[in-house]
Order: sequence, then structure tokens, then C-alpha cells
Amino acid sequence: MSINIAIDGPAGAGKSTIAKMVSAQLGYIYVDTGALYRTIALFIKENNISDNDIPSSLKNADVSLKFIDGTQRVFLGDRDVSGLIRTPEISMEASRTSAIPAVREYLFGTQQKIAKENNVIMDGRDIGTVVLPHADVKIFLTASAEERANRRYKELMEKPNCPCYEEILSDIVERDRNDMNRPVAPLKQADDAVLVDTTNLTLEQSANEIIRIINEKTGR
Ligand code: DC
Repeated sequence: MSINIAIDGPAGAGKSTIAKMVSAQLGYIYVDTGALYRTIALFIKENNISDNDIPSSLKNADVSLKFIDGTQRVFLGDRDVSGLIRTPEISMEASRTSAIPAVREYLFGTQQKIAKENNVIMDGRDIGTVVLPHADVKIFLTASAEERANRRYKELMEKPNCPCYEEILSDIVERDRNDMNRPVAPLKQADDAVLVDTTNLTLEQSANEIIRIINEKTGR
């Protein structure tokens, strides 16, 4: 039986960086499910698909994950789109289109299959509540919206056309609202998830805390 660790939480809480650190230490595969939703958003945008046509068009999407040297790459057909999906525009489009039930259904099986076949740390919004309700360990990773905006600002400030702090904060607040208030699979802490608030923790402290929780729950 594979071991499944679910990490859910809002945008910018550090899920992917921390989950990568933890999975490297434990030798598990790290699965970033947000990349799947982003790839669907890219597919919808590139093909100008209207909301009404999304359910019937998904069969042509051909989204897949590959793990190259342990690192996840996401493919649309045979095109590696792992870099293309990391734009503010696709972030917002993914937050919007991930509320469509057909999109969630389309990606459900892909996520479950990977978790069944591998020891995984899977991050997203509904992993502990919907995708892997029987995960061995569930973590809900969060931080204040201001701290999350601050971290994103520091990451982006060296880049050309960096949005200002207020713009980043308002994007984060809007995505939180979308992700938490959608009727299907909203972002919320599972009843049996452990809450980890990283507002005042460094990445190392956050990763160590998660490893401590995993060891405690799995008896390692
Ligand atoms: O984790 P991320 O920021 O890359 O995710 C992009 C969007 O995808 C996010 O705003 C909500 C959606 N998402 C989701 O609905 N369910 C998941 N399991 C992962 C992401």
C-alpha cells in the first residue's frame, strides 16, 4: 500500500516549496495538483473555449504529468507547458475555471491514480477533503494574506513589470475568495487535518514541523 500525504491550503502559503523539501527528505513523489488546473486553464485560453463549451471540450485536452529526475513536468499533448502556466493571468483563470465541476471530474482520476501507485505528497485545495479522503496524513498549511503577499512580492520584485504589493495582495484575497466559496470542492481544512500556520515560520521550520507530524502519524 502506498503512503499518501495531503497538503492543502491557500495560494502562496508555501505549499509547493515546503512539500518539495519534505518529499526530497522522505523519498516520496511530490505532486503539485495546481499545475493540472493551470494546464486546463491554458488549454481553455489558448483555444478560446467559452464556459458553456468547456465540459464537451475537455476530452480533447490531453493533460498529463511526467516525473523527470523526480521533478514534475506537466504536458498538454506532447508539449511541456510547465513554464507557460506560471503567469498571473493563468493563476486567475485557473482559480476561475477550477470551480467548474466538469474540470474537477476530468482531473480527479489522474490524481487518484498517481496516489494509488506511489508514495506521494500531494498538494492542492481539496486533496484531504475530496481526492484522498483516506490519506495517511493531512496537513492544512496556511499563513496570513499579508505575509503571503509579502513573500510573493519578494520573489517577483527583481523581475521586469513586477506588480506592486497592493496588487499582489488583492489577487491573493480574490483567489482565496474564489477557492473558498465555490460550491464544488471548496478550499477548507479537513476535519482530521493538522493546521500548520507558517506566518512566523521559516521554510526550514515549516518543513521540519511537517516531517515531525508525518513521523508521528505514520509511526516512523
Ligand atoms: O496551487 P496553485 O496556485 O498553482 O493552483 C491554481 C488554482 O487551481 C487555484 O487557484 C485553485 C485551483 N486548484 C484547485 O481548485 N484544486 C486543487 N487541488 C489545486 C488547485
